[in-house]
Amino acid sequence: MDAFKYKDGWLYAEGVCVEELALKHGTPLYIYSRGHLQDQHRALASAMRAVKPLICFSVKTNTNAAVINTFAKLGAGADVVSGGELYRAIRAGIPASKIVFAGVGKTVADIEYALKQDIRFFTVESEPELERISKCARRLRRKARIALRVNPDVDPQTHKYISTGKKENKFGLDLGRAMKAYELAARLPNLEIVGLHMHIGSQILSSAPYTHALHKVEKLCRQLKAKYPTFRVLDMGGGLGISYKPSQDPLDAKHFADIVVPFLKRLEMDVVMEPGRFLVGNAGILVTRIQYVKNGPSKKFVIVDAGMNDLIRPPLYQAHHEVIPVAKTRGTFMADVVGPICESGDFFALDRHLPKVKADDLLAILSAGAYSFSMASNYNSRGRAAEVMVSGRKAALIRTRETWADLARGEKLPRL
Ligand SMILES: Cc1ncc(COP(=O)(O)O)c(C=O)c1O
Repeated sequence: MDAFKYKDGWLYAEGVCVEELALKHGTPLYIYSRGHLQDQHRALASAMRAVKPLICFSVKTNTNAAVINTFAKLGAGADVVSGGELYRAIRAGIPASKIVFAGVGKTVADIEYALKQDIRFFTVESEPELERISKCARRLRRKARIALRVNPDVDPQTHKYISTGKKENKFGLDLGRAMKAYELAARLPNLEIVGLHMHIGSQILSSAPYTHALHKVEKLCRQLKAKYPTFRVLDMGGGLGISYKPSQDPLDAKHFADIVVPFLKRLEMDVVMEPGRFLVGNAGILVTRIQYVKNGPSKKFVIVDAGMNDLIRPPLYQAHHEVIPVAKTRGTFMADVVGPICESGDFFALDRHLPKVKADDLLAILSAGAYSFSMASNYNSRGRAAEVMVSGRKAALIRTRETWADLARGEKLPRL
């Protein structure tokens, strides 16, 4: 579903006029399409149905309870990387039995909480982490199910900050060391070896890095299956890319499945996937109001009321987001779209051909469903934006805008 389309010159989110939402809830405002979330989940589940994967939504991409709950209702699990994300996933309706826990720096508190919730398994990134999980499980008299995260050293051909499966990245264990780590896991008390995990990167637009990685782990998987009767899961991680520009082709779920499913069937293991961006990236927009159009000596600046605290992807990853007007206009000009924050890195688009907009007009920043609100901060003491979900002709506020009082919550003047 293309959830955001013009009708009679006005941008709509499914059947709801974006301007009406902005007038009602103010700006900056995140708007998510429930239909798009559901369609993306169905597209992936259907493409991969021959191996019946457990699709674990990667909660880091979008932590709103209404978004997580949409996937919970479709039978999805969750991929979490902190106690906080685990708390959010359970609260939003994902059963702990469908939650997998990744991350290189799990604390004792994270591990104990996850053990008490009896999650599906931990994906373990180092030998010291194995030892720590074993100790926690022993103390709590629980069994910790574990899958070792291996680093297959493949190039996912993506931005270097979101490439995670190369040997210079901090993630996982290199293949040469993995068997020894499994042997350690088998010796440690209160651990059960259930599988192997990999996650090679994000915004991957071709199936080739996946097949490359799968071929690299195939032999190890077969050896582990023969050695440990409880070893049965292959967790392929996430990474499926989406389109951020009209000229960019997303990783098509069917095409991806055609390439990887035959391999997975041969391997005869239970498949887990951890998509994030693919499920939510194009389900969201960030709506912002233009405050001023400023003519600089060499450039024009369109200054909006959203900032890098709301959406940091452009300066952080040099990411491209389409910026379109909420009401269509005639003519174009060239400008930078910038926020109000006191940083030159506070921009959404540089040297962009924009429709001829003016102060008080509304703009929509597209593809803002993933790694957008979930990366928001309070920098420059700005409250985080409100979030709305639409479904057909209905819309609901799913997170209220933060107030100035929210900003100071928890702060105390010391009596020193
Ligand atoms: C372990 C793990 N799984 C899944 C994901 C989700 O990745 P994506 O949003 O690219 O699907 C990430 C993202 O960083 C991750 O670290």
